Amino acid sequence: MSDHRQTILVFDSGVGGLTVLDPIRHARPDANYIYVADNAVFPYGELSEEILLARVRDVFDEMIPRFNPDLVVIACHTASTLVLPMLRERFSIPFVGTVPAIKPAAEQSQSKIIGILSTRGTAQRDYTAALIRDFAQECEVILHAPSGLASKAEAMLKGESVSDSAILADIAPCFVERDAKKTDVIVLACTHYPLLLEAFERLAPWPVTWIDPAPAIARRVVQLMGHGEPASASDQAVQAIFTAEYAIPAPLEAALKGYGLEKIDFISVNSASSV
Ligand code: DGL
Repeated sequence: MSDHRQTILVFDSGVGGLTVLDPIRHARPDANYIYVADNAVFPYGELSEEILLARVRDVFDEMIPRFNPDLVVIACHTASTLVLPMLRERFSIPFVGTVPAIKPAAEQSQSKIIGILSTRGTAQRDYTAALIRDFAQECEVILHAPSGLASKAEAMLKGESVSDSAILADIAPCFVERDAKKTDVIVLACTHYPLLLEAFERLAPWPVTWIDPAPAIARRVVQLMGHGEPASASDQAVQAIFTAEYAIPAPLEAALKGYGLEKIDFISVNSASSV
């Protein structure tokens, strides 16, 4: 059957990008989806900028000619806050990035104390500093990057147990109280973190608004690609590519199926860099 569907490639270092894929698939169920997880070098949050730039370049040099997507979503803050200019210069298709939702957080906060929960890489980026400077000047911003929180999200999806106390220790520094005012908005500035949202809400010292950027990313995709065909073209399986082969445990397989990833193919990417 000839396929006139538009192809959207969604990319992350691991399973975090699934939280972004989900609302995009709901908004455009008629499109073809390729989900690429660069699990060979996960976690991106711990890589130097130089190595991450080279690695993402190598991944896309491999994936773009293979899949010829109409649009790419970089469903990863750690990559988006660094690699978008390079990718846009290198390839002529549109790239949609996922960057910390600092502007809506500052707008929604009443107390003007906001938390940004990110990876180490995202916390260190000039891009993040510029967002804070441009959109959150009137706020106290708690920028917190617990190392290993994205790995806890990966572990949870694999069915491994992750202790509440470890999760609480990772989020607790975002909760501050000053002169009877408390943090009231926290940005989920890593696409893995919405996978742990149920635990965050349950363990939070007090209720806050958690901002997940994914719905805004889906709106941006529709803005760029249009609404597409009415859902007569039914939702189909997502083609999933991981860059390192490993035996997928049953709970992860079930979770991936829930996001439309029926079968995983492995494509290794030779890195010119020494990742
Ligand atoms: N999911 C990625 C993000 O949004 C990063 C996780 C990692 O590889 O460190 O930042």
